[in-house]
Amino acid sequence: MKSILLFKCCSFTNYKSHCQPIKFQQMKKVMQFVLLTLFLIIPVICHSTNNPRLTNNFNDNWRFHIGDTANAQSPAFNNASWRKLDLPHDWSIEGSFDEKSLAEPGGGYLNGGIGWYRKAFTLDKTLKGKKVFINFDGIYRNSTVWLNNHPLGLRPYGYISFRYDLTPYLLWDKTNVIAVKVDNSQQPNSRWYSGSGIYRNVSLVVISPFHFAHWGIFVTTPVMSEKKATLNVQFQTKVQSTKESITIHSQLYDNQGKLVAKSPVISVKDTVSTTSMEVVVPHLWSTSDPYLYTLVSSLYVGNQLKDQLSTTIGIRYFNFDKDKGFSLNGKPMKILGVCDHNDLGCLGSAVNKRAIERQLELLKNMGCNAIRTSHNPSSPELLDLADHMGFIIMDEAFDMWETPKTTMDVLMVNGYSRDFDKWHKRDLEDFVRCDRNHPSVMIWSVGNEVPEQYSYKNDSIPRGAIIMKDLCSIIRSLDTTRPIVTANNNPNPDNPLISCGATDLIGINYHMNSWLSFPKVYPGNKLIITEATSALETRGWYQMPSDSILRVPPDNSLYTTPTHFCSAYDNYSTPWGSTHEETWKVVKAHPYISGMFIWTGFDYIGEPTPYIWPSRSSYFGIIDLAGFPKDVYYMYQSEWTNKTVLHIFPHWNWNPGQLVDIWAYYNDADEVELFLNGKSLGKKHKVGDQLHVMWRVPFEPGTLRAVSYKNGKQVMVTEEKTAGPAAHIELTADHSKINADNSDLSFVTVQIVDKEGTLVPTASNLVNFSITGPGEIVGVDNGSEIDHNPFKANYRNAFFGKCLIVIQSTHKPGIIHLIATSKGLPSSNININININITTVNILK
Ligand code: GAL
Repeated sequence: MKSILLFKCCSFTNYKSHCQPIKFQQMKKVMQFVLLTLFLIIPVICHSTNNPRLTNNFNDNWRFHIGDTANAQSPAFNNASWRKLDLPHDWSIEGSFDEKSLAEPGGGYLNGGIGWYRKAFTLDKTLKGKKVFINFDGIYRNSTVWLNNHPLGLRPYGYISFRYDLTPYLLWDKTNVIAVKVDNSQQPNSRWYSGSGIYRNVSLVVISPFHFAHWGIFVTTPVMSEKKATLNVQFQTKVQSTKESITIHSQLYDNQGKLVAKSPVISVKDTVSTTSMEVVVPHLWSTSDPYLYTLVSSLYVGNQLKDQLSTTIGIRYFNFDKDKGFSLNGKPMKILGVCDHNDLGCLGSAVNKRAIERQLELLKNMGCNAIRTSHNPSSPELLDLADHMGFIIMDEAFDMWETPKTTMDVLMVNGYSRDFDKWHKRDLEDFVRCDRNHPSVMIWSVGNEVPEQYSYKNDSIPRGAIIMKDLCSIIRSLDTTRPIVTANNNPNPDNPLISCGATDLIGINYHMNSWLSFPKVYPGNKLIITEATSALETRGWYQMPSDSILRVPPDNSLYTTPTHFCSAYDNYSTPWGSTHEETWKVVKAHPYISGMFIWTGFDYIGEPTPYIWPSRSSYFGIIDLAGFPKDVYYMYQSEWTNKTVLHIFPHWNWNPGQLVDIWAYYNDADEVELFLNGKSLGKKHKVGDQLHVMWRVPFEPGTLRAVSYKNGKQVMVTEEKTAGPAAHIELTADHSKINADNSDLSFVTVQIVDKEGTLVPTASNLVNFSITGPGEIVGVDNGSEIDHNPFKANYRNAFFGKCLIVIQSTHKPGIIHLIATSKGLPSSNININININITTVNILK
């Protein structure tokens, strides 16, 4: 058993630690083992070994039932026939695509409904007298929670983190039963796939009645320079009256566990108090060097330690300038961001830290440095990873305020607009309190394209302005260190969200012309492109000629093609959007544009614009739903990273004589020469603001070879070969060693290759999988937007040569043996080692 704090206090945070559900009697023994191991393996900081706060993963051994049922909140209810499962869990991803689904195309044609979860647990009597809380990181949506038949509360918003105090209704000498009803039956309530259920982590916190409040520590750096940072620490405490003095203090440790600063000891009451400390020559947090400190805050009654809390912080300063754009720690840089929804492809919305980490690794490798949590509060895991990996976060609260949104043909009266009036204050406060210590979070967004951007009524003050001011004042009552923005698709000065002057930045979605006229229309204001591009691409499919751009769907009308594909040449976009190249050229050329968030980093389930059924997932991603980059990924890599890039496409399997457009993205070179079967097809170089070069080549089988040169010297070579018939299944695991923590994943890429090992770019072979050993197949995918086979299966067709299988560990160590078979091909296999690994020195693999 591991208390999270135990690990958090170490500089070497085992962020993947996965705790067993509690039986606290066992805890002592395991804690002793963990501590001993920690002392043996790594140089730990010992400041929390006697920490009285216990935080336990509460994910395992729940019972689940789909559909409503009477009285399931009662402890006497018999749930023996319910399915056993571990959280996080998304039941919608387990369903079939259903053309008649009330979730519609927006929701990816996967059904919502009602689901019930129950869990029985007992607590060690010696803990009696402590307070016990349950933390839910997110339940989609309309959750009601009971403990032993006592209602604890209702929470409509599916993306918000919340906690309940279990103490008043806990039984210390009997089994307790927690029951959760989730109601996602009112559909459609989202414009994208949301998932359904307890899809984020759950934990149990056992704590003294004298403790730091939930999200009760807030660290800011009001005074900052390279030489010195003053850290302000605000504490909210929950304490009872007592004769003894109640004191707190904080200590700051660097990432090697060295104490670098401490605050004076201060006396506190049941209220908010502040203290400060100075850090000399702080190591600043940045996207390229995401350096983190750990602040350990301790609460004493007399000389007894009652509570201790670790807060991971980064010290940095940033600025938005109306002329020069964004700077971090005094250095100008562009925010090179993507928007992403919260699904994890074939895993659905069920949070998995490794799956999010893989997404961020792919984005980082592309040069992306920022993420917009479109259009809702994200999981805590995403923000933790962003802190550790160096991403700037635009943290978004809502997609809807009071007025429902309209999708293709439906007014979304079942969305958050139903709950906004009653819940927005509470949700927004919880959102800010939960996220405000993350150094990665640098912008608060209070809304995306809300209909209140237009003045519908003849009110003297438009409703949009009133709400905007209200939301800004809620945020500013909790945090004044970050700018506030809304993502507007009405970029005009009559937009009440802009004209009311409440935000710090002006956010514009699309409308590229208004980016150009911005300095004139909004003199003195600061611009961020909150959403851009909405280009459309299917990995592996190319429409020629590639130099004509298609805008689809034609406004408000249906678009259809036999294939339901979009071209991967970056020559398709929505009419309100633009291609990747069109967009980046404008952002790049104008220093006052502080950055942009591309719609989107990854394909997501739902919103299959420009199509509807049978398409069920989006075409917007730079990376497909399975996590395979589309070609335009390399355009960004050539522009946004220091890596040397030479990427040519498409593949080289066409009809003899067919004219094929060959594009090359490159950098670090003056020119590129293309050869077909050894014969030069000429050198090309980018002119003006061009981002690629192109040759039009009649196809003949063989090898295309591109060579880039700088000052006449060869820089890089890349080849595309004509593939022969499929001969092998090639398996490549991203991680061949994973942790036995019931959560870690290995993503295995499956490629159909010819006898030389060249990818067969047209292959669609059906591949069957089987595994032995302590693991589970938790998803399969191939990036197709129209494949209706289930994501939870042990087979998948290759799509343009590739598919993916995702394997998850259990609590047991051992070796997982994966076998892949496909008719007419020899079988392939691969081993994945599952380790007991309770410490990780570096969170980045
Ligand atoms: C935007 C909207 C996004 C997504 C996108 C598709 O207007 O903010 O949520 O729908 O369009 O192009």
